[in-house]
Amino acid sequence: MKTILVTGAGGYIGSTLVPKLLLKGYRVLAVDRYFFGTDKLEAHEHLTLIKEDTRRLGTQYFEGVDAVIDLVAISNDPSGDLFPVATYEINHMSRLNTAQTAKRMGVKRYILPSSCSIYGFVEGDRVVDERSGTNPLTTYARANERAEQDILPLADDDFTVVVLRQSTVYGYSPRMRFDLAINSMTMGAWEDGVIPLNRSGEQWRPFVHVQDTAEVMCLMLEAEQERINGHIFNVGSNGSNYQLGPLAEEIAAALPVQVRIEWYGDPDHRSYRVNFDKIERTLGWKAQRTVADGAREIYDALFSGRISKREQTITLKWYQELTKWHKIVKECEMYGGIVEI
Ligand SMILES: NC(=O)c1ccc[n+]([C@@H]2O[C@H](COP(=O)([O-])OP(=O)(O)OC[C@H]3O[C@@H](n4cnc5c(N)ncnc54)[C@H](O)[C@@H]3O)[C@@H](O)[C@H]2O)c1
Repeated sequence: MKTILVTGAGGYIGSTLVPKLLLKGYRVLAVDRYFFGTDKLEAHEHLTLIKEDTRRLGTQYFEGVDAVIDLVAISNDPSGDLFPVATYEINHMSRLNTAQTAKRMGVKRYILPSSCSIYGFVEGDRVVDERSGTNPLTTYARANERAEQDILPLADDDFTVVVLRQSTVYGYSPRMRFDLAINSMTMGAWEDGVIPLNRSGEQWRPFVHVQDTAEVMCLMLEAEQERINGHIFNVGSNGSNYQLGPLAEEIAAALPVQVRIEWYGDPDHRSYRVNFDKIERTLGWKAQRTVADGAREIYDALFSGRISKREQTITLKWYQELTKWHKIVKECEMYGGIVEI
């Protein structure tokens, strides 16, 4: 039985990936601060929760580990802007440190889940692939780029390194995120029949379902070393590059309610159209789910009460809330408690 150490395991992608790994017969060490709660991962005999900060991850956790999937991150642009120092510490430095420790400790494989957002802005109709230059526009994207640049050179015959530049992810996951485009549009449609659309609606963005990207991570655990070592793969599909305006229309058409579009925000300067031939050519992998599938699945989960819009589901709001309460609790706490001591 192989052991996989997953960081950020309690997050949106992690809480979908971990059950998949367990189902496939892996043992999982799930490292996370569990900012979004430990309840997102169901107990399992082969699952060990490790509550730790990846900036302080000791070598003892790497003993007997076969592969690392390093999901940990402050995971979007606004949170990266609010906590720039921590974002570089976590998304860049802690992942570099984890990769170096893994290599030193004899771990065979390291998977870096990066982001297509490092393409940033691409002019006109140009479509970028893994050989194109990057153009990260935000702290979050720059931290991902630095992690890629520093970690890829660690690849050698004994240590396989692969970078996955994921499209923007969508779909249901136990740790739900409604700060992602498709998820938030679907939430708006369900809540009050309004799809919020970031101006101008013409910006291009690729998308991938959370189950699909989690499956790619599983695939990378077993793929032949020669095919993937030292490589970058864009994760998504050519057909899932959307301009946000038409995306909103497709979501509206997939849902059983009347909706209207409401514009918000300043024009979004990020726009990138991405080519996904390499992953299909090299590994025969194709995305299985569509945007309409994802929107309907979220809608059904909202309708049945399986998920709801709580502060925890908006990443930036939750980090702000935790920070606010941390301060309040520190001021009030005496003798290890508040009212009861
Ligand atoms: N969701 C997307 O659309 C998307 C797209 C491209 C790339 N990615 C990348 O995939 C990865 C996972 O994203 P996600 O959507 O699951 O994000 P998420 O915010 O849901 O999960 C991140 C997890 O990391 C944990 N964490 C944060 N700082 C930590 C620390 N210092 N120590 C330990 N744990 C810590 C959080 O508690 C959280 O559970 C990230 O690297 C993200 O950049 C995500």
